[in-house]
Amino acid sequence: MSTSVIYKSAPLYELIMRALYGRHYGARYQAIAEQIPTGASVLDVCCGPAVLFSRYLRDKKVDYIGLDLQEGFVAKLGAQGGRGQVWDLRDERPLPTADIVVMQASLYHFLPDPAPVINRMLQAARQNVIIAEPIRNMAQSNIRIVAAIGRRMTDPGSGEQASRFTETTLDACLAVNEVKETQLIAGGREKLYVIDATKSVSTP
Ligand SMILES: C[S@@+](CC[C@H](N)C(=O)[O-])C[C@H]1O[C@@H](n2cnc3c(N)ncnc32)[C@H](O)[C@@H]1O
Repeated sequence: MSTSVIYKSAPLYELIMRALYGRHYGARYQAIAEQIPTGASVLDVCCGPAVLFSRYLRDKKVDYIGLDLQEGFVAKLGAQGGRGQVWDLRDERPLPTADIVVMQASLYHFLPDPAPVINRMLQAARQNVIIAEPIRNMAQSNIRIVAAIGRRMTDPGSGEQASRFTETTLDACLAVNEVKETQLIAGGREKLYVIDATKSVSTP
């Protein structure tokens, strides 16, 4: 299995994400940044090239750690004032702790059973877990070729990612937790959930 080209280069990743999200590109990061208090410690899992940190949390003086499978995405985080680590989120070891734990546009990588990674995020968060996930996707397109491109574009090196969430399946997945707030963001393409980690129980 080979990693999709979109995950091999930070500039290419950004270019493709900008093309996919159009004028809503910045809003998807801004919506998350607004949920993060100044001075908080932040763990961003599946951080990609850490655009959230380098552009949208710049003025918030956060203590930021980004984890991702791709070394090319996390290698330069130290030079930007954060910390980056190569980490496979499928590993069962506990995650570094932080006030706020974020995962954006990545929960589908853990289908069909995202509960273990959500539990590890809840255990790592001292305050909130923020999950923002696409609910409208190329990979769900009725046009076969578009759907196939969507699936192939998002192989992190462990195989094509065929499954995606809809709003209904995402709501059902996260409903067992203490959800404080939900919002549709990025023109309705993603749904954001703020989960109170202090009140949420881990499910087996
Ligand atoms: C669509 S990108 C989202 C990146 C970033 N959160 C954003 O919204 O810009 C998904 C990211 O998840 C990472 N990823 C996929 N599976 C992973 C795993 N098992 N462990 C760590 N990172 C993973 C990929 O390398 C990629 O950077």
